[in-house]
Amino acid sequence: MCGIVGYVGPREAAPVLVEGLGRLEYRGYDSAGVAVLNGGGVETRKLAGRIALLRGLLVEAPVHGSCGIGHTRWATHGAPTERNAHPHTDCDGTLALVHNGIIENADVLRTRLERAGHRFTTETDTETLAHLIEDSTGETLEERVTAALGHVEGTYGIAVVSETDPGKIVVARRGSPVLLGVGDGEFLVASDASAVLAHTRSVVYLNDGDVAVVTRAGYRVLDSHAQEQDRAVDDIEWDLDAIALGGYPHFMLKEICEQAETVRSTLRGRLLADEGTARLNGLNLTPAQCSRIRRIVIVACGTSWHAGLVGRHVLEELVEIPVSVEYASEYRYRRELRIPGTLTIAISQSGETADTLEALRAAKTVGSTVIGLVNVVGSTIAREADGGIYLHAGPEIGVASTKAFTAQVVALLLLGLWLGRQRGVSVDEGRAMVTELLRLPDLVARTLQVESQIRALAQRYAEARNALYLGRGVNFPVALEGALKLKEISYIHAEGYPAAEMKHGPIALIDENMPVVCLAPKDSVYAKVVSNMQEVKARGGRIIAITSEGNGDLGRLVDHQIAVPASSPLLAPVLTVIPLQLLAYHIAVLRGCDVDRPRNLAKSVTVE
Ligand code: G6P
Repeated sequence: MCGIVGYVGPREAAPVLVEGLGRLEYRGYDSAGVAVLNGGGVETRKLAGRIALLRGLLVEAPVHGSCGIGHTRWATHGAPTERNAHPHTDCDGTLALVHNGIIENADVLRTRLERAGHRFTTETDTETLAHLIEDSTGETLEERVTAALGHVEGTYGIAVVSETDPGKIVVARRGSPVLLGVGDGEFLVASDASAVLAHTRSVVYLNDGDVAVVTRAGYRVLDSHAQEQDRAVDDIEWDLDAIALGGYPHFMLKEICEQAETVRSTLRGRLLADEGTARLNGLNLTPAQCSRIRRIVIVACGTSWHAGLVGRHVLEELVEIPVSVEYASEYRYRRELRIPGTLTIAISQSGETADTLEALRAAKTVGSTVIGLVNVVGSTIAREADGGIYLHAGPEIGVASTKAFTAQVVALLLLGLWLGRQRGVSVDEGRAMVTELLRLPDLVARTLQVESQIRALAQRYAEARNALYLGRGVNFPVALEGALKLKEISYIHAEGYPAAEMKHGPIALIDENMPVVCLAPKDSVYAKVVSNMQEVKARGGRIIAITSEGNGDLGRLVDHQIAVPASSPLLAPVLTVIPLQLLAYHIAVLRGCDVDRPRNLAKSVTVE
């Protein structure tokens, strides 16, 4: 979703800003722009379209100066046009501002400001902020920004420059992440660490309510009471290679193919073979707290929600506690009951998804302990949770999530093992599971060998207009995830369904043009899934079966059979999802789609 970059230092700002914006492209955006203090006033360049076009515009019409801000916009209020692109300015063009988030009372503020004589030129909610700051009094830019934000309802991460305070960027956050990059004699501002990584690995994460003042000489962080605060300087653990393509044509393919390594990384140092359990120090849960858990609620969105559905099976099986899995966006507005002994698990790759964050906060207000399963270190969900498990999958750049899903499932398996061992799973059972988990990275590597088969399948089905994905038990969420992957990046309509439930609706759609992907690894519902495949076959549907090695040949029942290595049933989703990720990828490539930046989607949805 929208991205922010800022720079102040000895260098020309524009190239640094554009480079940083390029690193944020993966988040999804439709327009981009920069504003630079040129020694006299503020100069802005912006347009609808890609960063490459902005780069071209800056060659034709350069802007010079060593302090500036930049933005990639993902339209919420107003169409993705040049006019609505950020930065936005006040009436005189004295100040410029970039904003992530949503100003919820923008209409009220706009009416008031227009009555006071302010002239608006865009349809955005953000422009109200520029006029509000113009309207505010205060000696310094930070005082005026703080005063203006006092009128705002909603969420924001902002960066502001003004010709009245040259060489200064004022930054503020509430509900939308912003961090400072601490360089050598220069400072950066960004909504995401990838944008500063080419210049520094030292970052300061701002908290909600913080206002920061950044100049070439240093930075100051003020909290919501204007008190100066010390904020820790953190080190980014990964480097630029992690966000480079490394020879792959797309990030999505790179991230699919990395999964043997990322699964290994999620497991690293966390398995205790002798004790048959996991070491999860970050959970911050005492044995006494564990014994009090009566129910688990998982909150998440998108692919992370699918991982949560797998988690329900894992946790109910191993921990024998009822688990419910909620869309975070629904949960946060439902009346949540204060039930003692509730453990809430927020699952999020980015750790910034607005609905998941608010669901976490809602759970806390009813007294639940909250843990986060998060990939991005230092993200808001990671910081607000009582404890958690970092996925350690490395940066995920492709908008369609792949390696984060498998890492989330692995983290849930670790959690299930750890909690289960405290509540009835025996040492021997625990040891058996540790052995299985240790084998998992190799099984993932072997699963990835199906790619050539999948490429051939993609040729066959690239022109399909619809697709159905069926699974049962722990593989039903995999069906949902397979369908989501296909629709996200190839724009083919696809649905995931519990295999037997198909008879209550989707069966009406089945004919010889309908590919039906059936998840049928060897487990307790295998025979049932085979019956469901018979039902599809009887209606002429084309069956692609994902089975496990040793299942035997399904023969003429299916049109295609792809076998993944056999594993214990709870681990199977980590393997069965891989052919589906590859299928979506290769179909999307054949259809000429922008795989890493699918239309209308954002990597991290920081608005509700
Ligand atoms: C967006 C992304 C999805 C992701 C979802 C939840 O929709 O495009 O890939 O699954 O957000 O994101 P999170 O960062 O919370 O896992």
